[in-house]
Amino acid sequence: MTWHRKHLLDIETLSREEVLTVLNTAKAFKAVGERAIKKVPALRGKTVINLFVEPSTRTRISFELAAQRLTADIINFSAELSSLRKGETLKDTARNLEALNADIIIIRHSAAGAPHFLSRVLNASVVNAGDGAHEHPTQALLDAFTMREKKGSFEGLNVTILGDILYSRVARSNIWALTKLGAKVTLCGPPTLVPSAFERMGCQVCHQVEPALRQADVINLLRIQHERQRKGMFPSLGEYTSLFGLTKARMKLTKPDVLIMHPGPINRGVEIDSDIADSDHSVILEQVTNGLAVRMAVLFLINGGHPQELGVN
Ligand code: CP
Repeated sequence: MTWHRKHLLDIETLSREEVLTVLNTAKAFKAVGERAIKKVPALRGKTVINLFVEPSTRTRISFELAAQRLTADIINFSAELSSLRKGETLKDTARNLEALNADIIIIRHSAAGAPHFLSRVLNASVVNAGDGAHEHPTQALLDAFTMREKKGSFEGLNVTILGDILYSRVARSNIWALTKLGAKVTLCGPPTLVPSAFERMGCQVCHQVEPALRQADVINLLRIQHERQRKGMFPSLGEYTSLFGLTKARMKLTKPDVLIMHPGPINRGVEIDSDIADSDHSVILEQVTNGLAVRMAVLFLINGGHPQELGVN
């Protein structure tokens, strides 16, 4: 098991071994979460700050719970109530948090590269919780964890990522992680949202939904990222649903044991039919559960924890 990093900024620069180290460490933490006493003292005395400058439900709360389960002190920074509103810069904000002895700063920001910038100006560890359309590394790690748990192996696994790829940090991090792990990744959606340039990342691009669904062992659905799209990339949501939505009729094309995934938040009736989101194929809420174990693993590893302490070899 290898991990010598102070920060988690992206998946692109991680090795396959480092990705596997996080997944195996997360497996050990998932087992801890199933015990009567779910807390461990790995981060006792450490201060973790959730610096979220963009909205979040799943990522922010699971990092908060992960820090608590590791016995760290955790502070949730609220951008709306902060002096960012008075013109303070991100750098000054983060350096003030560090002056309060923050050991780990978890940042979500609309600007791609914001976590990398903070890692250069702070002594604290930095974790990327989503930066613009660039990367969302812990989402990709929890998605990969869930796929491995359900399907056993990445070798020969066909993963279709369907939706707004162009503006999706989840898609980019998933592509990096899954191609390193040996899965075959197909990207599907309208050409305006799935440009052929993505083939350079080692995946297939397909603008017809039926073949992309038929071949998939896993379908990872993405919502339309309205907050990042700069102009209309398709005529209407109704047209998007009729051409690319996972409807009941399209579900009949899929393999009998297909896994339906979505990072959330889901838009029921747009990219996914509501009944499919709640069906036995869906592991959307299991992804959320696994996110806690993955984020415990990330905090543990960047704090210098050794997986061997948890019995992980
Ligand atoms: N998947 C995800 O990042 O969800 P949140 O925006 O709610 O954190």
